Amino acid sequence: MQRVKIAPSVLSADFGRLADEVRSVCAAGADEIHVDVMDGRFVPNITIGPCVVRALREAAGGIPLDVHLMIVEPERYLEAFVEAGAAVLTVHAEASVHLHRTVTRIRELGARAGVSLNPSTPVLALEPIVGELDRVLIMTVNPGFGGQKFIEAGLRKLEQTRGLLETRGRPGWDLEVDGGVGPDNARRIVEAGASVLVAGAAVFGRGPADRGRHAERIAAIRAAAEGR
Ligand code: DX5
Ligand code: ZN
Repeated sequence: MQRVKIAPSVLSADFGRLADEVRSVCAAGADEIHVDVMDGRFVPNITIGPCVVRALREAAGGIPLDVHLMIVEPERYLEAFVEAGAAVLTVHAEASVHLHRTVTRIRELGARAGVSLNPSTPVLALEPIVGELDRVLIMTVNPGFGGQKFIEAGLRKLEQTRGLLETRGRPGWDLEVDGGVGPDNARRIVEAGASVLVAGAAVFGRGPADRGRHAERIAAIRAAAEGR
């Protein structure tokens, strides 16, 4: 079985100390840094743009940035995010009308191309395009905010997606899960087929009184994921 990757989501970090928070989780064993880009249209919340991604790349050193675009018309911003330092660039199937073109363009720009599905979007949406993808991201909360409850129906979607990737995926694909992931459910999520676990609140905490201990928190997720 391939080693499970842990990708802390900076959405739950202390935004006043973002670079320090990123340096800390990188030192604490993060495999990737997950960056949530929100436009106030595809999702209700608004977060960050390419200039902040560029600053995070500096802070992350060599650890790859996994940029999750929750924006309408993501095709308009692909160059900007790849130039800013996205190693993986993921768009939502629901947000891009010409998804095949969008995915092809991400790969041409030199990044790994991902497609994400909202909880209500069937895995069938991936079928025509799965052979073009470096990554599939299954949302297990409705995107927009950190700290939400894991939607259990996501486990079945992970199993279905894993099957599709195993039969028709590009070499080197990975299957990422995002939303409500932590030590309590990491094992079941990995058993369902996930290879990259995004974790926001489970790594950065749930507010000012609950910050720090990044190494301990990442280790707890990893131990659970590996069934230790
Ligand atoms: C939600 C974001 C997630 C979020 C996950 O819209 O895509 O990446 O930060 O946070 P947790 O792990 O707290 O559910
Ligand atoms: Zn995300």
